[in-house]
Amino acid sequence: MQDSPFQPRLMVLPTPGDVAQKAAALIAGAVRTGRARVLGLATGRTPLGVYTILSQEMRAGTLSLAGTTTFNLDEYAGIPADHPSSYRSYMNRHLFAASDIDMARTHLPDGMAPDPVRAAADYEAMIETAGGIDLQILGIGQNGHIGFNEPGSRFDSRTRIVPLAPSTRAANAGDFPGGTVPEKAVTMGIGTILAAKKILLLASGPAKAEALAAMLEGPVTPACPASALRLHPDATVICDTAAAARLSPATRGAAPAP
Ligand code: PGA
Repeated sequence: MQDSPFQPRLMVLPTPGDVAQKAAALIAGAVRTGRARVLGLATGRTPLGVYTILSQEMRAGTLSLAGTTTFNLDEYAGIPADHPSSYRSYMNRHLFAASDIDMARTHLPDGMAPDPVRAAADYEAMIETAGGIDLQILGIGQNGHIGFNEPGSRFDSRTRIVPLAPSTRAANAGDFPGGTVPEKAVTMGIGTILAAKKILLLASGPAKAEALAAMLEGPVTPACPASALRLHPDATVICDTAAAARLSPATRGAAPAP
């Protein structure tokens, strides 16, 4: 357990739709003002509403990702990028299709790399060469994971291949209709995430309430990977009321009114 020098800013909003609106506004604002030249992106159910709003803005011509470089947090191992359940397919479907982004500037870890150690080092090097991640978007797993950094992941971990927790595979079974969820994935490490200049973690729904309370109020420990954000000087959490249900009045009280 470590000291917690920082506390993420917390915003509690009524609904998942409000979380998506607020997050999309922050991201779009950062892109427009040049504060997010390099975006760290997440997949899963949580950011879908955000990507829908950003896609609408791009279709309307009020937002451009033309000058933006992106790095996704993670990718399943052992399935090709063009597999419909890959995170590359997810990103293409939910964000990049509506975007003027240069696809050569969109990056996800390679789940099929013949030399995964080398590929992971290359991914870290690409982030570095791009100037580092300006704004990293995160969800949170029910077990407190960020990216696919499952409980026990070191806070100084970097991009690497990892086994998925049984609870994570169960939570993501819906991504693989009629098939089985891969047992491994490639994920940015917690150290990679903490190197981002700014972090935005989104959580909605009652299933995230316990993980969010552990993250913000429990010990800062690898047993709750998301608690590592309390070591970061510029992290923000936007959640809905259901996800905030287990937070103490003191934590809730520190959140500005929506
Ligand atoms: P979810 O996943 O958005 O699908 O709930 C979040 C996560 O596991 O990080």
